Amino acid sequence: MANEKYPYEIKVVEMEEEGTAHKLPVIVRIGPKGYVLHEKFINAAANVYNMKVRTSDIFVASFPRSGTTWTQDMVWLIVSHLDYERALNIPLTERYAFFEFFSSFDDGIKMQLLDANKDDEAKLKEIELIFKPATEILETTHSPRFIKTHLPLSLMPRKALEAKVVYVARDPRDTIVSLYLLVNSMRFMNLEKDFKAFWNTFVNNLQPWTPYFDHVKEAWEMRHHPNMLFLFYEDMRKDLPSVVRRVSHFFGKKYNEEEIARLCDHLSFDNFKKNPSVNFDLIKKLGFMYADKDFIRKGKSGGWRDYFDEEMTAEADKWIEENLRDTDLRFPSMQ
Ligand code: A3P
Repeated sequence: MANEKYPYEIKVVEMEEEGTAHKLPVIVRIGPKGYVLHEKFINAAANVYNMKVRTSDIFVASFPRSGTTWTQDMVWLIVSHLDYERALNIPLTERYAFFEFFSSFDDGIKMQLLDANKDDEAKLKEIELIFKPATEILETTHSPRFIKTHLPLSLMPRKALEAKVVYVARDPRDTIVSLYLLVNSMRFMNLEKDFKAFWNTFVNNLQPWTPYFDHVKEAWEMRHHPNMLFLFYEDMRKDLPSVVRRVSHFFGKKYNEEEIARLCDHLSFDNFKKNPSVNFDLIKKLGFMYADKDFIRKGKSGGWRDYFDEEMTAEADKWIEENLRDTDLRFPSMQ
């Protein structure tokens, strides 16, 4: 399916062919790394890749559950002169366009949502907006445009690095646990109930956005590019003020120690968890996510140990070792 508008081959894969218990019936694999995406992404892939980038654009990119939301709010505030009032009044989901959100759910889900909310005009509007391709929304968005994505660098707009990209990575074991708990908090995802089954589909590159290590390594390889900033979740947890300073410097902003302390307080886990602007209230309100679940969950490092048995721990060690062999990428939690 590769053509001059899109350089990668898109392969449609019926899950039964792969002999797996995975619950997504069909996925697509894109490009030489075979990145997994929902089949609906076929309609968006070339539009995202060829999107007209403005040099003022700001991308926050990551593998899902790596601290994206946290990074997004930090970046937005740093770029937006620490305007806390606007940050609180405009939900993060409106401050950022999210490339793949609409293509992560099929039309049947949209119909179910429309039906469940049919008596509420405002919610119907919000559902339509959620399912609108981000590239269309962005055409009329004022600069600077803020964009969230879980796409790896190679599937992002080819000119993304003419703008600014902040990439955040996290220990894959914590990322996997966090992702597993999130997909099981979502009404329509219907993925593996059993963590071990989820783990197996993840390391066998059958979950959306995998292969995980290729995703991170692509960004890591570009970390010295002047328009790329590579962050680790674990560094943010350990020393947020110094990460705030790095991000401020990257965007050419200068804040004094008092301003940095206030920002770190705003971004602290406890304050973040109770901040309605970043908590994905909208997806709960619309019925995507169960009301008793939280998008901002525990915010810890090393919590994976509670979910991995001995066998999985050994498999993870081997998986990590094999994937780090050809790179100088090292996670702070593994040093
Ligand atoms: P846990 O599920 O391990 O708690 P993303 O935004 O990419 O989906 O990442 C979500 C993860 O980041 C969740 O991890 C969430 O709790 C954590 N997180 C969000 N805000 C945080 C904060 N202020 N401090 C620490 N962790 C945070």
